[in-house]
Amino acid sequence: MKIAMGSDHGGFQLKNAVIKYLEKKGIEVKDFGTLNEESCDYPDYSLQVAEEVAAKNFDFGILICGTGIGISIAANKVPGIRAALCHDTFSAHATRQHNNANILAMGQRVVGEGLALDIVDTFLNCEFEGGRHANRVNKITEIEKKYSK
Ligand code: RB5
Repeated sequence: MKIAMGSDHGGFQLKNAVIKYLEKKGIEVKDFGTLNEESCDYPDYSLQVAEEVAAKNFDFGILICGTGIGISIAANKVPGIRAALCHDTFSAHATRQHNNANILAMGQRVVGEGLALDIVDTFLNCEFEGGRHANRVNKITEIEKKYSK
């Protein structure tokens, strides 16, 4: 499994903790920045990670900012991206099973490290259920197509 990681300054510390955790498990991770805690703009990191995930160069992306909100909103502008903001494990498995989310977003200022790592595990270990959910996800893609012209 290959994971693309990105954060702004507000998510820098949690991003590093997630990278360390995944690498310890033998999961391949690429860090698209930011590389320090200097103030920066979260859409820059959303764009890089979202484009890589949409191009299927990575299985999933993980994006972290202060709240997880801005970085997920920006990622969801890239066609093919379904970025889910999750601060609990129920949402993390539900969004994989029902929405086939391909990016997990979290907020470093919202969630503690222990819970964040559980959310990461849950998200990465759940499968999309397809069936009626596939029909709904296809409808999301149709909306994307309608406004991509
Ligand atoms: C940065 O201060 C903060 O606005 C950002 O990390 C994020 O929370 C935006 O949604």
